[in-house]
Amino acid sequence: MISRSTIDKVFETARVEEVIGEFVQLKKSGSNYKGLSPFSEERSPSFMVSPVKQIWKDFSSGKGGNVVTFLMEQEHYSYPEAIRFLAKKYNIEIEETEQSNEQKHQADERESMFIVSEYARDYFHETLLKTDQGKAIGLSYFKERGFTDETIQKFQLGYSLNEWDAFSSEALNKGYNLKYLESTGLTIVKDDLLSSTGTKQFDRFKGRVMFPIHSMSGRVLGFGGRILVNDKKAAKYLNSPESEIYHKGNVLYGIYYAKQSIAKDDNCFLVEGYTDVISLNQAGIENVVSSSGTALSENQIRLINRLTKNITILFDGDAAGMRASIRGIDLILEQGLNVKVVMFPDGDDPDSFSKKITSQELKEYLKQNSKDFINFKVALLMEEAQHDPVKKAGLIRDIVVSISKIPDRIQREVYIQECSRIMDISENVLFNELAQIDKKEQREASSRPVQERPSEPVLQITPQYEQINMLQIFEREILRILLLYGNKEVEFVDFVAGEEPDDHDFQPIKKVKFNNVVSKEIYLNLQDDEVEFTNKVFKNIYYEIIHQLNQEEIISVDKLVNHENSEVANLVTTILMDDEKHVLYDWKRKNIFPKTKESESVLLKDVQDVIYNLRRILIQEKINSLSFITYENEDKRQQEFESLINYNNLRKLLFERLNRVVV
Ligand code: CTP
Ligand code: MN
Repeated sequence: MISRSTIDKVFETARVEEVIGEFVQLKKSGSNYKGLSPFSEERSPSFMVSPVKQIWKDFSSGKGGNVVTFLMEQEHYSYPEAIRFLAKKYNIEIEETEQSNEQKHQADERESMFIVSEYARDYFHETLLKTDQGKAIGLSYFKERGFTDETIQKFQLGYSLNEWDAFSSEALNKGYNLKYLESTGLTIVKDDLLSSTGTKQFDRFKGRVMFPIHSMSGRVLGFGGRILVNDKKAAKYLNSPESEIYHKGNVLYGIYYAKQSIAKDDNCFLVEGYTDVISLNQAGIENVVSSSGTALSENQIRLINRLTKNITILFDGDAAGMRASIRGIDLILEQGLNVKVVMFPDGDDPDSFSKKITSQELKEYLKQNSKDFINFKVALLMEEAQHDPVKKAGLIRDIVVSISKIPDRIQREVYIQECSRIMDISENVLFNELAQIDKKEQREASSRPVQERPSEPVLQITPQYEQINMLQIFEREILRILLLYGNKEVEFVDFVAGEEPDDHDFQPIKKVKFNNVVSKEIYLNLQDDEVEFTNKVFKNIYYEIIHQLNQEEIISVDKLVNHENSEVANLVTTILMDDEKHVLYDWKRKNIFPKTKESESVLLKDVQDVIYNLRRILIQEKINSLSFITYENEDKRQQEFESLINYNNLRKLLFERLNRVVV
């Protein structure tokens, strides 16, 4: 168990915007940051981070919380895992209360697989650097390829001994469970009647140099192992099999090392292989990932899309491979990314090319040779189709299909114009073609089941419960004011009846001004009226706040955001973030000007309004209940009738205060 003081320290130190910034490209927006939701596919940002409040909110999925809940959502960490991750990031020493054997066993399956994988990474790395065979074969191979010690260290490269079960038996000796060695694919278990256990194990990566594959947050998901001998029958690269923690289509090699510079440079280089990633890194180009030899999957594109809108594909200098990859690129366009491509000279891949020139020259080369994908595709295909009208017609269609994938209309139009120029075809023909493809798309889309748009998290108002929901709206408003301004002191105004009647026959109403802390004013008023919150979660939060006020005379929003009751934490986050939500949308263009920070007078009015409104509803309820009662006893009826009139007067008064007309 992690000690309480460590957890507190982690919360004090961790900055939500820094942590989230590693996963989502955040843009400053007023006092907040906004970005694309990592939890849903979207094109306009609905994900917000508040550095001041140290919380985040994803308006598209409704999720929200503090830095720890983000990691739990994003990386599927457990609470302690998230704390450990943060402690590591911020160099906080973890104070631990002893873990029992039982607790160790309870660590879930995935976690065990991660632990085994991380052990394997360390074992292979040690083997590379410390054993004779590792140095003679593995290390000298990497050195021959030009990898520096620093690079080998950074990418945690390793070597698996050329023996049947060197790794597996060492891991078993160390107490790692065969179950997880097998489920991670590091060990292959086969039946063996001669052995005492009835099985025998082998190392999957026997005799290979090892490339650990990391998640975005740096955990080891699996490995790629490269063979060192020339063997036509054996695969050059062997990868970890699909498992609970390793899904080939969801990972990008190098993303852990690249994420920050991808966001910073606002561009991601995509290469084919492990060694391309490593060599470019060594040359000082860090915003590079590899899809490991296959076309990008949708999930891989999403990983990139969180960090940048711009992707530059680096093609090996062999034409066949490039032609094959071109088709897959439509998928990238479809997700709204801008695609550029760079070609390398014949026979070179980024790895080999980077070894021939200085890193400055390489950077220059990438800059000079990156071409817009559509233009590149046109030029490439035109070369083939130049003197073949039939081919050319097919090509036009092909290009327009690519253009039709681009979600941005203006961008589409620019491309059409450009293609018209390059291909020497009228824009009209291209636009017509585009319109036809669009129509076909629409037909197909309409026959697909409709995907529901996530609605905005607002209180639902259904007619039959309108009254209750009006109450809840004001309850929520009270919480909002308490959370945002509860600790503020404001000058309140109240109206009280004077002692003496004045010249007219009225009781004079005196205006009284007094200072009070907002939370106290609300508390006193609600207490006076014996108001009970009707919504269970609202009530919880309200009592929590009152409890805080009684204990420390101040509302600690942090404690509510980090509350163990996730309903409380979630609602508090939502309320806090609602306040910031307007910056996500282009309100100005719609001529709606949201109030920014509440000025004191607005706040005063808000506090009084919400209290009056709540009273108004309660009075209305009273009136409703009275109107239905008939009493046999004449006295009693008279009494009730008087209170009805009183309540009605009260109601009138309240409406006046609210500047509303009574109907
Ligand atoms: N690959 C694979 N399995 C193979 C061959 C390739 O998974 N049998 C993947 C690897 O991720 C590899 C990438 O495809 O890095 C590109 O393959 P290739 O160009 O053949 O290898 P390089 O990365 O150039 O590797 P090297 O320079 O070591 O030959
Ligand atoms: Mn290569």
